[in-house]
Amino acid sequence: MTWNSDIIKNLSWAGTITNRAGKQKVADQIVAKIKDGDVIGVGSGSTVFLTLFAIAERVKAEKLNILAIPTSIEISMACSKLGIPLTSLYEHKPNWCFDGADEVDPAHNLIKGRGGALFKEKLLISSSPLNYIIVDDTKLVEKLGSKFPVPVEVFPSALLHVEEQLNALGTNNIVLRLAGGKDGPVITENGNLLLDVRFDDIDSGLELKLKAITGVIESGLFINYNIEVLVAANE
Ligand code: A5P
Repeated sequence: MTWNSDIIKNLSWAGTITNRAGKQKVADQIVAKIKDGDVIGVGSGSTVFLTLFAIAERVKAEKLNILAIPTSIEISMACSKLGIPLTSLYEHKPNWCFDGADEVDPAHNLIKGRGGALFKEKLLISSSPLNYIIVDDTKLVEKLGSKFPVPVEVFPSALLHVEEQLNALGTNNIVLRLAGGKDGPVITENGNLLLDVRFDDIDSGLELKLKAITGVIESGLFINYNIEVLVAANE
């Protein structure tokens, strides 16, 4: 039996997708990589959302069998809307993943986590032998932290301990991320809180230092990961 759901039928991206034409081109590059039988890790964000629509068209036209491992509720619902079957890391290791990013430096280190799905995004990228990061050129920076703070996912009762430890690491600003559509803080995909943390200097050891703080579930710093970056030029 299937649901007759208007919620899934009418699911769309909340807000405007900027640089749609450029993102569409990079989406087409991702679609061209699909092979029958692939298990694909799917990140989060508007570029990924757009790419899923393009994937669904090819899957339908060529009757391909693929499985998606989602990183967020939003992407799970989008896959459901588009008829892309889901699986999990319990059942499958991904053949490859694709995801967006909030900042990309010249060495292809990343800041991610605007969508609050950073833990699952890092888990999938770490689990997969091949990863494509799809961004438009507004995400390219000379130095990480130039535009975005570093998101840090925190187990709720560890909040003040983590704040103290972040101060000891030399942050110059910590903001508890507040929700838009509910009272109080953003709750991540895993039921945790998010701190947006600014550092004057992000060195290559910072990701591990953040991870070593008891109560930090994960950070949005991706330093030296196995990724290929595809850039959608602004049109
Ligand atoms: C999600 O947690 C982020 O890491 C996204 O990948 C990032 O915000 C990209 O979003 P856009 O594709 O909407 O720019």
